[in-house]
Amino acid sequence: MKLPKLDNTSLLYNLRDSKNLFLSRFNLISIDTITLMLSDRCNLRCRMCDMWEKEKFGYSDLSLAIIKKILISSDVKRVRYLSLTGGEPFLREDIANIYALIRSLHPRCRVTISSNGVLTGKIIKFFSGANNPRNISLEISMHGITSHDHMTQSKGSLRQSEQTIGEIQKRFPKLKLSVKFVITPWNYNEIEKTFDYCQERGLPLIVKMIENVKSYTNSIRYEENTKQKIFSFTEDQLQDILCFLNRVNNNKGVNRYFIEYLVGSLQGKPINKQCLVSRKSLFFNANGDIYNCRNFEPIGNIKEGDVTLHITGYKNRICRQQRDSSICQKCVALPRFLI
Ligand SMILES: C[S@@+](CC[C@H](N)C(=O)[O-])C[C@H]1O[C@@H](n2cnc3c(N)ncnc32)[C@H](O)[C@@H]1O
Ligand code: SF4
Ligand code: SF4
Repeated sequence: MKLPKLDNTSLLYNLRDSKNLFLSRFNLISIDTITLMLSDRCNLRCRMCDMWEKEKFGYSDLSLAIIKKILISSDVKRVRYLSLTGGEPFLREDIANIYALIRSLHPRCRVTISSNGVLTGKIIKFFSGANNPRNISLEISMHGITSHDHMTQSKGSLRQSEQTIGEIQKRFPKLKLSVKFVITPWNYNEIEKTFDYCQERGLPLIVKMIENVKSYTNSIRYEENTKQKIFSFTEDQLQDILCFLNRVNNNKGVNRYFIEYLVGSLQGKPINKQCLVSRKSLFFNANGDIYNCRNFEPIGNIKEGDVTLHITGYKNRICRQQRDSSICQKCVALPRFLI
């Protein structure tokens, strides 16, 4: 099947990237985007993610004291975007305190919470008490309107997420709510139906290809060759995904650039580009490990030394140099696509 030709609207990215490359060379970047993995505990057992399997070896929470240590750092004083993720962030009993701390130190930053949506009561309670709810976004994962429970290996998880979505829309109609769908070999044929479901409810759908990121969602299975096949698609599956992405991507401006690479990488073409992900971002794992990019080694651990020490340190400089100087084949970055 011949795919429609896509425009290359990369100018915006090239300009932004050149500026970042310049600043990065001279270590002049102040952090504007932070992701905090609040916990690696989870109440679901998703097939594409092995977070829940870590419980066999013990789990970690990013403590309130460590979160404060991160947020008071002079290097993050200009933070504009702060994402809370997990594991399941709503398993944290102190999530309201974490949010209050964020608001006291960074009153204007946009907070995004990624959740599986299962803990309806806790989620509603959190938003009922949250200060400045207009500046929070909530992303609820739904991996297919019939395949979701199969994906999460948890019966009733779809019904519960739908209930949360309904309650949020009813009680907090101004909250920025989106649905997140990870495309895998098990649910690729449900993207369209899930897209229609979201359209009917006025919800944006964020789609993301399954990734094999050792430092994050796949630290255990990554090692097992037998399970690698969950990360690969057959030709027919790829054609279906590509047709859908091209169809919904019609006339959507800069997203085309991302889709162009995504399409190419799914077809096995080399990803011929420099990294497009902002150098101004940091990811903090639940065990305190700090990543400049999660496909590279951590640049340090926040339990040992402060943010400044790590971002000015040798490991971060090496990581940045690798990102800046070479064509990175490790991911298609941008990592997701908002429909
Ligand atoms: C690790 S989860 C944490 C938040 C929450 N538990 C949830 O599922 O939304 C964050 C996001 O990563 C996605 N994810 C999990 N495993 C993935 C993988 N192997 N590749 C790409 N995305 C993945 C999830 O679907 C979710 O949207
Ligand atoms: S994707 Fe989210 S809900 Fe699913 S197992 Fe991983 S952390 Fe849990
Ligand atoms: S893997 Fe490579 S392209 Fe992807 S975010 Fe990291 S440095 Fe950028």
